[in-house]
Amino acid sequence: MIGRIHLSENLELLKTLPEESVDLIYIDPPFNTGKVQKRIQLRTVHSSIGNRIGFQGKRYESIVVGSRHFDDLFDDYLAFLEPRMREAYRVLAPRGCMYFHVDYREVHYCKILLDAIFGRASFLNEIIWAYDYGGRPKNRWPAKHDNILLYAKNPSDYIFNYDEIERIPYMAPGLVGPEKAARGKLPTDTWWHTIVATNGKEKTGYPTQKPLGILRRMIQASSMPGDLVLDFFAGSGTTGAAAIELGRRFILVDSNPEALKVMARRFDGRDDIEWEGFDPTPYQSVHRQGMLFGHNADSMGTANATSDRGSGCTDARFAGSCT
Ligand SMILES: C[S@@+](CC[C@H](N)C(=O)[O-])C[C@H]1O[C@@H](n2cnc3c(N)ncnc32)[C@H](O)[C@@H]1O
Repeated sequence: MIGRIHLSENLELLKTLPEESVDLIYIDPPFNTGKVQKRIQLRTVHSSIGNRIGFQGKRYESIVVGSRHFDDLFDDYLAFLEPRMREAYRVLAPRGCMYFHVDYREVHYCKILLDAIFGRASFLNEIIWAYDYGGRPKNRWPAKHDNILLYAKNPSDYIFNYDEIERIPYMAPGLVGPEKAARGKLPTDTWWHTIVATNGKEKTGYPTQKPLGILRRMIQASSMPGDLVLDFFAGSGTTGAAAIELGRRFILVDSNPEALKVMARRFDGRDDIEWEGFDPTPYQSVHRQGMLFGHNADSMGTANATSDRGSGCTDARFAGSCT
């Protein structure tokens, strides 16, 4: 079997995985997972029309002076993440790494949480995934990036396949000579990559789908062929698709049946995936086999496929780096 896909609440599932059994983790947790606990702050004032009667028959009313909505939401988010991050640390192999994908508004708080669990020295990188898509507010700089925190279980011994990382074109190839220009350069911690195009072949229809190109880069750099990759906020299964392409095994977990339906279609035609808690067959059809990589599924499983890998991931894969 190359992979296993679970319809499950991830904390429960994580608890069933053996210690140090996973070589690489990528997660892209949603925000707003915690309960919204809008705590209203009230002040009591004298009022002739107030409905509360106090000392000497005076009337009072309560007025709303504020709300702690966002704090509470955020406290809940960290409380939601913490036990899952502790499990992630437990199941990660001694040389394993975790990529934690998050929004620029939460990244600072999440880093403090992850530093506490992994240890500050285990923090290797903050990767900026930069894209250029969508509206531009006129009252501040348009936010056009996500943040990906990279942690190693053991900061003095972890997998980083420097030589395997796909090179990208130089910005000014004329300045580096033809040989260097032909080889390209290694990416830095700032990755320019298009989002999944709304009408592209890679699109699955899952609203938060991430591009295969960025998952491919992480998996190639931080795992070996045959290794086990875990994504317990799997969504449309991008991590699994990239793992298959690179010859890695995978475990995907999502609690939303809609995500499992999308994955059923995405991995249609593969009989080397186990499904737990969900029957994919009603959503599969031989006619849908092209969805996995945006072209014929025959090319699945090739460890170093260099052909078209879906929209936004061919020559223009890291388009911003070429400009
Ligand atoms: C931002 S999406 C991930 C998208 C994914 N990276 C992709 O490329 O499609 C987050 C996913 O986490 C799932 N999720 C949220 N809470 C969960 C939980 N407690 N257990 C399992 N899955 C959960 C949601 O259903 C959603 O599909």
